[in-house]
Amino acid sequence: MVGSALLRRLQRESNCRVIVRTRDELNLEDRSAVSRFFHEERPEAVIFAAARVGGIQANDSFPVEFLTENLNAQLATIGAAFEHGVRRFLFLGSTCIYPRLATQPITENQLLTGPLEPTNEAYALAKICGLKLCQYYRRQYQVCFHSAMPTNLYGPGDNYHLQHSHVLPALMRRLHDARQAGQPEVTIWGTGAPRREFLYVDDLADALLHLLTIDDPPDWVNVGTGEDQSILELTQLIARVVGFEGEIRTDPSKPDGTPRKLTDISQLRASGWQPSTELEQGIRLTYDDFKRRLADGTLRMV
Ligand SMILES: NC(=O)c1ccc[n+]([C@@H]2O[C@H](COP(=O)([O-])OP(=O)(O)OC[C@H]3O[C@@H](n4cnc5c(N)ncnc54)[C@H](OP(=O)(O)O)[C@@H]3O)[C@@H](O)[C@H]2O)c1
Repeated sequence: MVGSALLRRLQRESNCRVIVRTRDELNLEDRSAVSRFFHEERPEAVIFAAARVGGIQANDSFPVEFLTENLNAQLATIGAAFEHGVRRFLFLGSTCIYPRLATQPITENQLLTGPLEPTNEAYALAKICGLKLCQYYRRQYQVCFHSAMPTNLYGPGDNYHLQHSHVLPALMRRLHDARQAGQPEVTIWGTGAPRREFLYVDDLADALLHLLTIDDPPDWVNVGTGEDQSILELTQLIARVVGFEGEIRTDPSKPDGTPRKLTDISQLRASGWQPSTELEQGIRLTYDDFKRRLADGTLRMV
């Protein structure tokens, strides 16, 4: 999702050659293949948008894969980038790697100040290693390896698998299916009370390019909207966009995850960037993309 948004954004830049590899073309866990790629292509800057990602259920069920695959790909890519002279490397962390009970809104200096959310601990540990490795390369070798900490993302190309997807696409699919089936009600996972922030993925792509233009960027900087809403409010908003008019129920027997996640984006704002897509507008654009992909059979459900 992020990689595709970056490509859309980079199409507007006339002065750069974009080098892309899909997983089929280059498995980033394969160290020698990664090294070969850097040797042949010699990129000047790298945005590392690959990772094994997923929602609570996927994270909780496959911690071994979340830790090892992400660590392997990060070690191979960051190491090879350094060895082949890349001077600018932008790694993607995530706000879900901050401590579970971080003070809200979450500032960048709260990383590693408390226990992690248990349901995505493996993913968070891998991401923290990636972030710190970039910081260590920068400190030890004076290369500009740095990171962005995006909040929850949504937008075109998201994953709509019923168990493995993130909350927003999962809700969109369930509410769409419920409307199509004429279901009288939909039950959402948890109490509906946790508060979350959502950033439209094309805004993230724009922020990442902005970060690459900063001469001496912070080691990591939050990228979000600075605004949040409860999962129940989000569900009601998506229901409105999708046209689902039935009842929305909650299921408090299911875990909620982190009670609140709102990022402090003052560093990013101070550097001259702010998001431009309102949540409802972004959800409408995302739903248009969902319907288009559903119709032509390209909806992602893995
Ligand atoms: N989505 C969010 O809400 C969110 C929030 C904060 C941060 N982020 C971060 O943003 C980045 C991109 O996330 P996304 O939402 O765009 O996820 P995505 O749509 O699943 O994209 C990740 C891509 O990485 C590829 N990949 C995974 N392991 C690979 C490997 N070993 N070799 C080559 N390619 C590999 C995946 O290929 P396959 O499709 O073949 O698996 C997929 O194309 C990640 O670092 C993620 O942690 C995402």
